[in-house]
Amino acid sequence: MTTLKRGFSLTWLGHNSFKLVTRGAKTVLLDPWVEGNPATPKEQKQLDKVDVVTISHGHGDHMGDAVTIAKKLKPVVVCNHEIHLYLQRKGVANTSPMNKGGTQEQAGLKFTMVHATHSSGIEDGGQVIYGGEACGYVITLEDGTRVYHAGDTAVHADMALIGELYQPDIALLPIGDLYTMSPREAAVAVRMLKPKYVVPAHYGTFPALTGTPEMLREELDRLKLTAEVIVLRPGESLS
Ligand code: NI
Ligand code: MN
Repeated sequence: MTTLKRGFSLTWLGHNSFKLVTRGAKTVLLDPWVEGNPATPKEQKQLDKVDVVTISHGHGDHMGDAVTIAKKLKPVVVCNHEIHLYLQRKGVANTSPMNKGGTQEQAGLKFTMVHATHSSGIEDGGQVIYGGEACGYVITLEDGTRVYHAGDTAVHADMALIGELYQPDIALLPIGDLYTMSPREAAVAVRMLKPKYVVPAHYGTFPALTGTPEMLREELDRLKLTAEVIVLRPGESLS
């Protein structure tokens, strides 16, 4: 358990899903893939209260449980316009769509949608439905702490703008390679974002995702970057 002396806890649910519980006792679920997520420990699969869900893109390993969780726990679902339309068609009433560059407030927290470079098709009944563009989020907590959830993405030059505009304290970055950045790209992302802490994600779920936190640390050393890499096990929290 790493102590950041901040009034919140962040739990890695495995893959690219996180649960954030804020100082004001608000629960935010980042990328709702829990029930079907092989990396999520059993005891973390039962969610009893979620105030806000964010969705980074339409792939099943990110929003696979969106409809179920939205209907059961009635959180506000923050997502892009196209995923909002899709969820509406599935009977989810409590969506709050937005697009990149915008910020909205939910549960006393600010959600800013930022760019990601990835695809976003939604697989449904053997078809692929257009899911808009993949995105990331900068979440501003009650005390001003900013958490950047990159979602699935390659490294891209807009990360310099994200660093300049939002100065994230913590960056949750994919490092698994193949479908997202590898540790080499992620280290360059860290150079642009300048976070104090980096939590690696989207690795280890399947053998094909080969990036490791150790490789990320080596790449950061090579670039002489001092951001602290916080390695969580699925189900483990930092607070
Ligand atoms: Ni994806
Ligand atoms: Mn993914």
